[in-house]
Amino acid sequence: MKAITRNQYGSPDVLELKEIDEPVPKNDELLIRVYTTTVNRTDCGILRGKPFPIRFFTGLLKPSTLVPGTDFAGKVVGIGGAVKDFKVGDRVWGLDDEGLSSHAEYMVIRESRGVAHMPENIAYEEVVACGEGAHYAYNFVNKVAFTAGDKVLVNGATGAIGSAALQILKSMEVYVTAVGNTKNLALLKSLGADKVYNYETEEFTEVDDEKYNFVFDAVGKSTFGKCKKMLLPNGVYISSELGPNAENLYLPLLTKFKGDKRVIFPIPQDCRKSILYISDLIREGKFRPVIDRRYQPEEIREAYRYVESGQKTGNVIVRFGE
Ligand SMILES: NC(=O)c1ccc[n+]([C@@H]2O[C@H](COP(=O)([O-])OP(=O)(O)OC[C@H]3O[C@@H](n4cnc5c(N)ncnc54)[C@H](OP(=O)(O)O)[C@@H]3O)[C@@H](O)[C@H]2O)c1
Repeated sequence: MKAITRNQYGSPDVLELKEIDEPVPKNDELLIRVYTTTVNRTDCGILRGKPFPIRFFTGLLKPSTLVPGTDFAGKVVGIGGAVKDFKVGDRVWGLDDEGLSSHAEYMVIRESRGVAHMPENIAYEEVVACGEGAHYAYNFVNKVAFTAGDKVLVNGATGAIGSAALQILKSMEVYVTAVGNTKNLALLKSLGADKVYNYETEEFTEVDDEKYNFVFDAVGKSTFGKCKKMLLPNGVYISSELGPNAENLYLPLLTKFKGDKRVIFPIPQDCRKSILYISDLIREGKFRPVIDRRYQPEEIREAYRYVESGQKTGNVIVRFGE
């Protein structure tokens, strides 16, 4: 089969498109013909083995798998003897943010992991862009108990995580202010944002006098220090990054005992729970993928370079068929 491979951590230059043997499913695994995958920020972290702690999951000195990739959408073409909930021919999608080998024509995954049946109302190429970013967004947003009418600000709302967070929050009937750039303000409105700020022309922490239950910095370009004054008493700040001085690691402890505004730093988990949740939103017409560029496997280095630039809007797709 055709697969992207690498034998060491490094830049996109270590990636090579090769012909390798198809994997064989174990007793509790599905063999999947992958039609589409994405290149996302998690893939970029795994490619470089950075930040270092990621290597406790992906291999200490070198990657533990030959083939990279975390998101997938495709068809079940084989099953192990103990598989109960899937059959050959099922349309499936999913992810594993600790690394899966989905940058290939075929992959295997245990049925108990992050794999689910595809909603009927979506194509392979679209559903694959509802995985990684939405998984993180769901894991960050579900740390706060919202009621309809609560107010949330999402910075970096044009990214994979931010665009998913915006839609998940709108499905909860929350008022959302979204921050993005000039070219994407209309997109943010179309995803349901009630108010938008353009970070290229205004600093939202200075011009916005609204008070929020929750500020979510989905791109890590702001800080708790700057956003604190925008929070209501008992308001929560969450960032998808550690912060300029890794302060988002220790601020959760400090703010737990001091002050009435809190920082939370959630560790995302349970990919399966996330994709089942997003599948339901897709079925209800409350979630749609934001897709930026599409690449062929031959262009994989270019795809990683673009994603590493931090400028993608939503998701980047790589097609392996159909
Ligand atoms: N904690 C975790 O487990 C975890 C997992 C995955 C990713 N991450 C991190 O989370 C962040 C977001 O991930 P992602 O996949 O959503 O990234 P992404 O898709 O690359 O999105 C980043 C978005 O932010 C926009 N942006 C750039 N500078 C900005 C600024 N100053 N203000 C507001 N928006 C700005 C970018 O668009 P323009 O440049 O066109 O404006 C882009 O659309 C990344 O820093 C990533 O490393 C964390």
